[in-house]
Amino acid sequence: MISLALVSLSLLAALSSSLAAPKNSTYYNPILPGFHPDPSCIFVKEWDSTVFCASSSFNAFPGIPIHATKDLQNWKLVGHVLNRREQLPKLAETNRSTSGIWAPTLRYHKKTFYLVTTLVDDELPQEDASRWTNIIFRGTNPFKPSTWSVATHFNFEGYDTSPFWDTDGKTYIVAAYAWKVQPGIFIAEANLETGKVGNWTKIWDGTGGMAPEGPHIFRKDGYYYLTAAEGGTGLGHMQTIARSKRLHGPYESNPANPILTNANTTSYFQTIGHADFFQDASDNWWGVALSTRGGPDYTYYPMGRETIMAPMTWKKGEWPHFTQVSGKMNGWPMPPPNKHIDGDGPFIAEGDDVDFAPGSKLPAHFTHWRFPNATQFTVSPPGHPNTLRLTPSWLNLTALNGNYAGPSGQAFVGRRQQDTLFTYSVDVDFKPKVAGEETGVSVFLTQNHHLDLGIVMLEGENGLAPHFRFRGESYIPVPAPIITPVSSNWTDHKLTLQIKAANMTHYVFSAGPAGARSQLQDLAVVSNAPVSWGFTGTIVGVYCTSNGGSGTTEAYISNWKYIPQEQYRD
Ligand SMILES: *[C@@H]1O[C@H](CO)[C@@H](O)[C@H](O)[C@H]1NC(C)=O
Ligand SMILES: *[C@@H]1O[C@H](CO)[C@@H](O)[C@H](O)[C@H]1NC(C)=O
Ligand SMILES: *[C@@H]1O[C@H](CO)[C@@H](O)[C@H](O)[C@H]1NC(C)=O
Ligand SMILES: *[C@@H]1O[C@H](CO)[C@@H](O)[C@H](O)[C@H]1NC(C)=O
Ligand SMILES: *[C@@H]1O[C@H](CO)[C@@H](O)[C@H](O)[C@H]1NC(C)=O
Ligand SMILES: *[C@@H]1O[C@H](CO)[C@@H](O)[C@H](O)[C@H]1NC(C)=O
Ligand SMILES: *[C@@H]1O[C@H](CO)[C@@H](O)[C@H](O)[C@H]1NC(C)=O
Ligand SMILES: *[C@@H]1O[C@H](CO)[C@@H](O)[C@H](O)[C@H]1NC(C)=O
Repeated sequence: MISLALVSLSLLAALSSSLAAPKNSTYYNPILPGFHPDPSCIFVKEWDSTVFCASSSFNAFPGIPIHATKDLQNWKLVGHVLNRREQLPKLAETNRSTSGIWAPTLRYHKKTFYLVTTLVDDELPQEDASRWTNIIFRGTNPFKPSTWSVATHFNFEGYDTSPFWDTDGKTYIVAAYAWKVQPGIFIAEANLETGKVGNWTKIWDGTGGMAPEGPHIFRKDGYYYLTAAEGGTGLGHMQTIARSKRLHGPYESNPANPILTNANTTSYFQTIGHADFFQDASDNWWGVALSTRGGPDYTYYPMGRETIMAPMTWKKGEWPHFTQVSGKMNGWPMPPPNKHIDGDGPFIAEGDDVDFAPGSKLPAHFTHWRFPNATQFTVSPPGHPNTLRLTPSWLNLTALNGNYAGPSGQAFVGRRQQDTLFTYSVDVDFKPKVAGEETGVSVFLTQNHHLDLGIVMLEGENGLAPHFRFRGESYIPVPAPIITPVSSNWTDHKLTLQIKAANMTHYVFSAGPAGARSQLQDLAVVSNAPVSWGFTGTIVGVYCTSNGGSGTTEAYISNWKYIPQEQYRD
């Protein structure tokens, strides 16, 4: 009788637990499509069980975007850590397109958010200490970007710096030493308020892959787990892990390393690595990492390094296991959809339909390259409601040498390409007078990699006249410029300029009179290979320049649209 009761009781328990057990989720990678590399994410119970993620921004400004979610499905841009020039004036001085903010780590400790990162001057050799500006930002409310502090500097000749709080109350920073000088993961005690750091000691060499980097430490089941990326951020990228009972090691490598990689596979998702881990409200583990959608062929990947998420199984005392990354994922159960999130930015999958209404500001997800000169961007100036006025910069998008813009800035503003297929268009009111004056739309990767369709004042058969000009700048071969006079029927009109990712490999640049889509003419069909390069991802936007000349004619941009059309995931 007793045993029967026990059986039926346990049956009941099993039944009710299986009834209560939520189902695994289906979700899609990348979770943050487009230029969102080197993710670092935290789950913060005290902030209504929200997950916050930071990513690298290189020379983009505002820099270090923070995305938030409450359901692991709907990700919203809630602000940028680097949002004021005085926080880090040196961002204006970096020379080279691959310079700027590399790899942030976001953490929350005793009611404070910490963002630890490195401003890298990639022009300088790795052994030059001034190449590495290591910094800490402290914040109290990620939904109010103005609460992020100015940068506190600390000394370290390397990058990928990550804070760790030990159980004895001591604080450390773990980081990657300049790998060309001395590859390895180093640690030092640190004061995150003052930037004072102790002696740096090497604690792990990694497993032998090139450039051990992106370290994070997790304390679990009596071990210190140290995870890092190796192999470089290209096709050989991978994530490895080691553990020790003592913070300073010796660390024992997981015999099953790497724990996460798509190297040597045919997956569309390549370069996976630079992972961070977090535990959700149900205590399930997840990893985020960067990935490039380009397949092993690795030729067409204009969106660059994006953020993916993968479920982790991490049993007590055991090594963690990842689910292999693909476009469609099966993972731990997720909380029900919840889009009640503060902050200014859009949800990641949204497009744009921006009318630059009087009294409005540039949307939170609009981005510049290095610090903008604010006088060059005016929303709804007097007499021109519902426009964005661009005052030309002397420099064009290539700037001084393709690497540097000097203090005068470039009149450019855009938004990240986040979709394999999309259509971006604006209307442009521009009446150039002086030779060289130009305004247009660009697929901008860096100052030395961009594809532009401009309206430019050029000497033509009948004298000085506005022309459409497609022009590309890249280390990878680009088509010769395509130049055609603006039809005399159109010169008194506002014009529409459009960039469409018509397929996975090519952009179509079109122009025509505004308000007459049927008259749009395709002017150039261009491969995206020339903007598949480096560490960043493409930004589509508008620019206005005198091309080094004397022109001062302003351009009025209106009817800004970015329509997401398709996401390729395999
Ligand atoms: C940027 O680097 C180039 C190439 O090394 C150099 O010629 C130029 O002077 C540098 N510019 C600045 C502002 O540092
Ligand atoms: C740091 O290193 C220096 C030089 O090797 C040494 O003199 C000093 O005692 C060390 N400090 C600590 C706290 O280990
Ligand atoms: C990929 O294959 C190459 C060549 O066999 C090998 O050297 C490398 O370790 C492999 N990478 C990974 C992450 O498995
Ligand atoms: C649910 O997801 C976890 C994490 O990936 C996995 O370990 C488990 O096998 C999945 N369960 C089912 C029923 O698919
Ligand atoms: C900012 O732009 C305005 C308008 O183009 C220009 O007059 C000014 O010189 C620029 N500021 C700097 C620091 O170059
Ligand atoms: C301008 O418009 C006229 C009348 O619609 C048309 O006949 C002519 O071909 C157009 N010219 C150009 C260059 O498009
Ligand atoms: C994309 O379009 C271009 C131009 O029409 C064409 O040359 C190319 O083959 C297309 N690529 C794919 C993958 O369809
Ligand atoms: C862009 O600016 C640079 C330097 O100011 C100049 O050499 C180059 O010719 C300009 N490009 C165009 C298309 O005018």
